[in-house]
Amino acid sequence: MRLILLGPPGAGKGTQAQRLVEKLGIPQLSTGDMLRKAVADGTEIGKKAKSVMDAGQLVSDDIVNQIVSERVDGDDCANGFILDGYPRTLVQADAVEVMLEAKGMKLDAVIELRVDDAILVDRIAGRYTCANCGAGYHDENLKPRQEGVCDKCGSTEFKRRADDRPDAVKDRLWVYYKETAPLIGYYHAKGKLHTVDGMAEIDAVTEEIETVLRSL
Ligand code: AP5
Repeated sequence: MRLILLGPPGAGKGTQAQRLVEKLGIPQLSTGDMLRKAVADGTEIGKKAKSVMDAGQLVSDDIVNQIVSERVDGDDCANGFILDGYPRTLVQADAVEVMLEAKGMKLDAVIELRVDDAILVDRIAGRYTCANCGAGYHDENLKPRQEGVCDKCGSTEFKRRADDRPDAVKDRLWVYYKETAPLIGYYHAKGKLHTVDGMAEIDAVTEEIETVLRSL
């Protein structure tokens, strides 16, 4: 199964990808996570990406296409993968086509998570993750079972993203509508697009995605 999760910042791509990893047994390839790791590790790519990401803009297509193409060659991707946050420009979408064809793979579906802008801003403002294992939480919608303790690994350290500041979120939304929203028409024309109500409860969104996957 090779899937793309498409949607604006805060739509729930990462949340749903983590659940699909457990259910489908295939990895989540999040370009945002890969780039944040490169920044944290201080690699050449990380140095180029940091200021662009902090400002809510897109890292260059060449860099992102290269890191995904290399990651897809990993043994754990042999049975499929979930692309989370990639592609997000038409140039990247064309690169996915070329990459999959060259590797003898095919794309099964693109799941678009549709969410109103006002809800996105609330979600991003309340979001935080476990500093140890990366499990995602939200101040209101998804609290750990025990306050201040990660459900998954028991860590008590949490962090918030630098680009979740309100001014950067506004820029990320603007960039989404300009650069990424055109992919909805692109994948619709290819018969790959499945739109899911991303404003439903987290479990209900997962169920709707699973219904789509069963229908493929
Ligand atoms: P990236 O990390 O991909 O960020 P994003 O696309 O802006 O998406 P988010 O991670 O903010 O949101 P999400 O949809 O995953 O939502 P989540 O599940 O966390 O990219 C960051 C940056 O890296 C980019 O700005 C860019 O600079 C660079 N970059 C990355 N990929 C790139 C690419 N391909 N090309 C160029 N540059 C690239 O959910 C949000 C919150 O809402 C959570 O707290 C969650 O608990 C809650 N929530 C989720 N679903 C629900 C629900 N159904 N109901 C209630 N609450 C919910």
